Amino acid sequence: MNAPFSAASLDRIRSELKASPRLLYIDGDFRPAVSGETLAVINPATEEVFAEVAAGSGADIDLAVRAARRAFDDGRWSAQPPAQRARMLLKLADLIEAHAEELALVESLDNGMPFMVAKFGGVMGAAAQLRYFAGSASNLNGETIQPATWPGEWHAFTLREPVGVVGAITPWNFPLAMAVAKLAPALAAGCTVVLKPAEQTPLSALKLAELIAAAGIPAGAVNIVPGLGAAAGAALVDHPMVDKISFTGSTAVGQAIVRAVSTTLKRVALELGGKSPTIIFPDADLDKAIPAAAMSIFGNCGQVCAAGSRLFAHQSIFDQVCEGIAERARSLRVGEGLEPGTEIGPVVSRKQFDRVMGYIDSGAEEGAAVIVGGKRIERSGYFIQPTVLSGTTAAMRVTREEIFGPVLCAMSFGDEDINVLAAKANDSDYGLSSSIWTRDISVAHRLARRLKAGSVRINGSGPPDPAMPLGGYKMSGWGRENGRPGLEAYTEIKCISVAL
Ligand code: NAI
Ligand code: MG
Repeated sequence: MNAPFSAASLDRIRSELKASPRLLYIDGDFRPAVSGETLAVINPATEEVFAEVAAGSGADIDLAVRAARRAFDDGRWSAQPPAQRARMLLKLADLIEAHAEELALVESLDNGMPFMVAKFGGVMGAAAQLRYFAGSASNLNGETIQPATWPGEWHAFTLREPVGVVGAITPWNFPLAMAVAKLAPALAAGCTVVLKPAEQTPLSALKLAELIAAAGIPAGAVNIVPGLGAAAGAALVDHPMVDKISFTGSTAVGQAIVRAVSTTLKRVALELGGKSPTIIFPDADLDKAIPAAAMSIFGNCGQVCAAGSRLFAHQSIFDQVCEGIAERARSLRVGEGLEPGTEIGPVVSRKQFDRVMGYIDSGAEEGAAVIVGGKRIERSGYFIQPTVLSGTTAAMRVTREEIFGPVLCAMSFGDEDINVLAAKANDSDYGLSSSIWTRDISVAHRLARRLKAGSVRINGSGPPDPAMPLGGYKMSGWGRENGRPGLEAYTEIKCISVAL
């Protein structure tokens, strides 16, 4: 099979990454960390260090936040006409598309994901996100309040103002897409941003910085500072000049951020973990439901916040569904992201590998049966077999906790009342996503209303749509990204009232 990218591009990128440490992007310049320290960047498919990145810490975050503060306060970004901000976001989208191959190569080397996933899921998704939010920059209207409640004549209305300086902290599972998911709405609303990408995968964000500069987005409007969570991330959360933190990552860090902002009360948006159910009824189109259920947990090696990690299949089709998913698991091509034909890469890091293998062991100890997979793949790199566990119960750690790996917990249901089924699906601390497969439109909608999850997919699958709000009930987070709520999340409402 021919590689879907040019070997010359890969060589060029590899040597560019090897030549010198990648630098922080602060106030329109690329610069080393104040401490002079760097972090090693590891290819999870080979366990080799293939790049170094400047390790930002408190001093760099301070420079970046001050630059973002100036860029916000002097209006060079926030006071531009929305159409002008839109023009630059569209330009950035075009540049991302023009550099799709390079960005996808960097992403695949850094995260391990298949090149095609990096290109179509990550890079093209990022361009689509920018275009969606560019369109909404001009539509941030307030509302007129008429009539008021008390006597008297008032002209009252609201404005939507940008919230200010945003600290964006992103994870390693879709590094570029996650960065742009925060940058696009924040910039459209007129905010300025300091982005702290995950230490495991900082490279695509720094490539993006080059394109941000080329798109003409003014210095200071976007600053990108890789570094460790406990150093750079915590400094951003604590910085008094930051108005809002937008975080995607683990529940534990989300909770730590909430504790940390209790003094400053800056705004916080949290997109945390999930344990999302896939519910398949006997009348479903199984030719569609089975592959979708499989890829919703095996895709990106299960490192997806909305992964369908708990399967509920009706008992009359349970064996057929499990066997279909197991068959898909056996046939999936697991390998290096840059090997042509690879469908699933490694997990991102040694730590994540140990975590996922630990969960598989804990499932077996608690009495679950491994139907397929369950082992590491014997080669260098953090490769894990796509795994299905059955005999899992609602009490087990594997069914309750987010694994963030290619591990499905399969459970059956009977002809119970829809409320009973919904209660099973809702028996989780999380409530991010869910999917339902049935041809019965009434069952689908009745169940959808009963699920405690920020999104419900019926008879379909696929990546998040920038137009559709995404976010969690319960411990899956605070707030929504995407869609109108995703834009409004970067604004404050001001009510102005005039006594006439
Ligand atoms: P993490 O929450 O530690 O990392 C996410 C981001 O938070 C990174 O940029 C990290 O540097 C930063 N961070 C870490 N500590 C911080 C702190 N004290 N203050 C501010 N920022 C901080 O996640 P980790 O440890 O890499 O993964 C552990 C688990 O988290 C995964 O197994 C998975 O269950 C979950 N996770 C969920 C994600 C999602 O999309 N909702 C994404 C990544 C991880
Ligand atoms: Mg961590």
